[in-house]
Amino acid sequence: MKGILLAGGAGSRLYPLTLVASKQLQPVYDKPMVYYPLTTLIEGGIREICLISTPQDLPRYRQLLGDGSRLGLSLEYREQVRPEGIAQAFRIGESFIGNDAVTLILGDNIFYGGDVFHQAFSQFGEGAMIFGYRVHDPERYGVVEFDNAGRALSIVEKPKEPRSNHAVPGLYLYDNTIVEIARNLRPSPRGELEITDVNCEYLRRGLLRVQKLSRGFAWLDAGTSSSLHEASAFVQTIEKRQGIKVGCPEEAAFRRGFLSLETLGELAGSMPRCEYRDYLTAVAEEARRSS
Ligand code: G1P
Repeated sequence: MKGILLAGGAGSRLYPLTLVASKQLQPVYDKPMVYYPLTTLIEGGIREICLISTPQDLPRYRQLLGDGSRLGLSLEYREQVRPEGIAQAFRIGESFIGNDAVTLILGDNIFYGGDVFHQAFSQFGEGAMIFGYRVHDPERYGVVEFDNAGRALSIVEKPKEPRSNHAVPGLYLYDNTIVEIARNLRPSPRGELEITDVNCEYLRRGLLRVQKLSRGFAWLDAGTSSSLHEASAFVQTIEKRQGIKVGCPEEAAFRRGFLSLETLGELAGSMPRCEYRDYLTAVAEEARRSS
């Protein structure tokens, strides 16, 4: 399974924050937003990742993450010249996907808790898999309606009158037919290649599975000023309470076995004196003691 991290878009809902820095580079508490979805991919065991962003913003992401080797990853970059919808990512990333299955994660989606994605990635076979998460404002999202047996009946993008409270989070798993489906997609009335149309096509073919995320799981999006603020507060609360970091790609890469203990120690040592470095040093020391 390969991973695409989409960090495009104009970020107009965060204006003027996004006048000089891309939305997914804004801080969520103590680190750039993009660290969170990147960590979700790493925790899920995904090592080959393609980051898609605008031509203006890509240099910043390269500066932040390089070729990924520092994290034991292989990281590629592709440009989204015009923001023409989430599903455009599969056209842009077609050569990256090759003959593999792919998961797409949106750069402003923050997930916390459990092992659900790692399991989903490792057990994934054919078709598509998406998730459903109960929210109080489903009209802001893609909304999935279930029948009594828990099977998906419909998915509608930002419905005025939602048929359920279950929103579709920005993490999607597809088999290789995504390449053909994305190629044949037509823009929606708002001129975008909609991810919801992709999911509807898999549903029509009888190849879509929708898994409900449990209530103990946290899904936050950080695309508006108040959701950005709430996401920061959430991360701060967990980090202070537990003394762990949420969305720390170095730690996730180490725990997933992408980095050796020695490399983790070196990585921490190369950082300026700061709380982030102290945290990673402590993670390495704790691992050394228990090995
Ligand atoms: C997009 C998708 C929507 C999905 C959401 C998740 O919406 O179109 O289906 O539920 O991401 O964050 P957008 O954030 O572009 O409004």
